[in-house]
Amino acid sequence: MTRVMAVSDLHADFEENAGWATLLSLWDHRSDVLIVAGDVSDRLPVVQRTLEALARRFDAVLFVPGNHELWVVREESGSGDSLQKFERVLHAAGQSGVLTGSLRRPGLRVVPLQSWYDHSFGEPGAELRRVWADFVACRWPDGWQAPEVAREMFARNPPEPPRAEGETLISFSHFMPRIDLMPAGVPARVRMLFPVLGTSRLDTEIRRLKASVHVYGHSHLNRDVQVAGLRYVNNAYGYPHETAIAAKRLLTVWEC
Ligand SMILES: [Fe+2]
Repeated sequence: MTRVMAVSDLHADFEENAGWATLLSLWDHRSDVLIVAGDVSDRLPVVQRTLEALARRFDAVLFVPGNHELWVVREESGSGDSLQKFERVLHAAGQSGVLTGSLRRPGLRVVPLQSWYDHSFGEPGAELRRVWADFVACRWPDGWQAPEVAREMFARNPPEPPRAEGETLISFSHFMPRIDLMPAGVPARVRMLFPVLGTSRLDTEIRRLKASVHVYGHSHLNRDVQVAGLRYVNNAYGYPHETAIAAKRLLTVWEC
């Protein structure tokens, strides 16, 4: 039996989260595939250590960087901007033994989608611009705003044909593909974050791919819902205090 499991937002730089990967069984997941949908840490050694621990335990691990991986605020000066950090994160992931491209197995394809928010869920207000860490922790080429970053990230996705007959296609991204995956009635302090949660461009791509399941992260709000015929799953591990919205355990999204 092969299972495809998912987790995101491990935030392993928190002491309470740091050991989680190493506490997983070394034997139970040897036939399993794991999706890690971004935000392991902004610190490369932590990303590498965590991904190595996961790669030792699973048959295959797939990873996309989240926004935290692209923070450069704690990097040594002269180490480059967030685009260069993206390349270093992908390299570190490869060195750790995880996949950053798609996985093909008989009857199964798992497809990572690089992305960034582009304000298609709303324009950021003054308060969001003041409190959202990416605005100071990431560094982009002169004149770039989120839409330029999103365009650049999407351009890094290689062409991928839609799901074939008899195939299960599972796509995943760090960012949210639809804002209606947020439950109605979330408080105003969460609603304020909508412009930086994702992009509708992801959903267009997911539907072109005819994905059966899409795994996403970033919102930290665990969800497993069907919308317009497609299953969307968020299984974020989340920050240590987020015990009510994050289950903090692996979730199987597909098995055969
Ligand atoms: Fe994130």
